[in-house]
Order: sequence, then C-alpha cells, then structure tokens
Amino acid sequence: CLSHDDRRARAFLARRFPEAIEATMRDRFDLIVNEHDAILSAAELAAAAKGCRYLFVSATESLPSSLFDALAPELEVVGTLSVGYDHIAVDSAKAHGVSVLHTPDVLSEACAEIAMMLLLNAARRGYESDALVRSGAWRGWGPTQLLGLELTGRRLAILGMGRIGREVAQRARGFGLQIHYHNRTRLPSELEAGANYHGDRESFLAHADILLIAAPGTPALRGFLDRDAIAGLPADPIVVNISRGDIVDDDALIAALQDGRVFAAGLDVFRDEPNIDPRYRRLSNVFLSAHIGSATTRTRTAMGQLLLDGVAALQAGRRPANELT
Ligand code: DGY
Repeated sequence: CLSHDDRRARAFLARRFPEAIEATMRDRFDLIVNEHDAILSAAELAAAAKGCRYLFVSATESLPSSLFDALAPELEVVGTLSVGYDHIAVDSAKAHGVSVLHTPDVLSEACAEIAMMLLLNAARRGYESDALVRSGAWRGWGPTQLLGLELTGRRLAILGMGRIGREVAQRARGFGLQIHYHNRTRLPSELEAGANYHGDRESFLAHADILLIAAPGTPALRGFLDRDAIAGLPADPIVVNISRGDIVDDDALIAALQDGRVFAAGLDVFRDEPNIDPRYRRLSNVFLSAHIGSATTRTRTAMGQLLLDGVAALQAGRRPANELT
C-alpha cells in the first residue's frame, strides 16, 4: 500500500464496491483500490495491502492465517462485504488483534427473495420453460406440457433458521408452505412463529418436501446433503441452496437429479465458484443463478455502509454489533 497521504489511514479495497460506498471510503481513507476487480490470491492480497490499517474484501478473497501474519502489525480492521466469513481465519485475525466486520441483517430480505426465486423456478420448471420459448421450438400450450409441483400444502424444511431462514419462512407462509426447521438449538417461540423444530436430522429430512439450505458454511456442515441425506427425503423433493456450495455433495445431488430421485434443484452457490461442476449445466431440472443472493444496489450499498459504520464505531472506541467475536 504505497501512500503519499499520511493524514488519513491507509485502506485497501480488494473488489469494486457500490459507487456511494467507494466515494465515502475515498473521503475517509487514503484508499488503494484493486481497480480491475480481479480476484486476488492471498499472497497477492498480502502484497497489495502491506502497510494498510483497513482491508475491505468480499467472500471471493481467501484470508488465511498467513495473510494476518504478513499484514501485522499495521492491519487493524478487516471488513468483508458478506454475511458469511468462512473465507477468513477469524481466530488468526483475533490473535493479531485485528477486528473482523461482516454484514448480517441488511441482506436477509434480498437473500430471501432469491430463495423464493430458486424455489419457484425449480418447482415450476422455470429453466425448461424459458429455454423452450427462446428456442423457437414451442408449439403452444399443452395439457401435459411442463408439469411441475405447486408449493401450496408442501413442507419447506429450512436448514439454518437464522435471520435469512426466518425471512424465507415469512415469505413461504404466503405461498401456503408449512415450515419446518433444523438448528443446533431451538428458537424462542416468538422467532419460531409456528415453525416445527426438528433437533434430529433424520426427522428434519423426512419432512423436507423442499429442503432449503440457509445455514452458514461451517466445517461441520460440509457434505451435509450426501447420498444418505437424500435417501431420507420424501418423494419428489426439491433442493434449494443459498448458503455455501460445499454443504452439498455434488456427486450425490447430481446423481439424484439425473435419476429423478430429486425432482429439481435451485442453486445460487457452488463449490469452487465460478468453476462449477459442469454436469449441473447439462441438467434441465436445475435452476442456476450466479451467487446473487444479496445482489441489489440497495442491499450491497447497505452492506458497505454497515462496514463503514463498524469502522467508525471502532475508531470511536465502541464495539460494533457486526464485529465477529
Ligand atoms: C454472503 O454475504 O455471505 C454472500 O454469500 C456473498 O458472499
């Protein structure tokens, strides 16, 4: 981080953030921007952000402990434009006295909307319908054409009833879905809002006409949706993932989509993005989107603002609510 302006603290911005946020950052910091918006490796990031007090990233950057070793002792705050923080060695950050800020709450509604988009498109064969019309091969309405599954009366089983999960539940009730959920601990009844809790994974899966994965990407959940889990689902299930790709065992899900054991899937996230398993591209019963859960200008700006507010709080000696402990 080469700076000619020592009056303001140096900051490095690893991806292009919404314009309004970048403008405020330029105002507040001696800001170096990764203008090309290319994803930097941990080593490139460590080199580019050397000497910076503030580092702003997104979930596309990996921040292992070696990065914190390299950027100590100048680095004080990392802000990630994401609610997920599985890409950051938070313990190592803490060991170096670095505060890590993330962006919970402000993206919950936008993410819940994408969950509904995936759910509806998977259930009602949105991809095939769109492709048929675009192809020019459509010969008009047909009594047995593109028959899907309606949502009304089905059971939506939410893995991870956090803020985003609860926003999905609220919307899903409007579609006549019954809500079930699995969390490590049961929610207080005011947050449960009538949803059925399953502490037991088997019982949870057995109620998942539609399985929504909304839990954070922790090591404990890696490969959660494997062959056994799929075998425990009811007939004709739908799988929706808005969290992290590695919660799904791709081999198991793809095989189940191919042989019809799973009716359809809606996936916004993938293992090893953007190099997704190519078999997904060839499946017509999968609706794919490009990790766009929080992708609205309003939400991304609110996420950026939350990071800026968090930095301001830290500068004033206060502990912001979005600091990871
Ligand atoms: C998040 O906020 O964690 C989204 O997945 C974007 O990274």
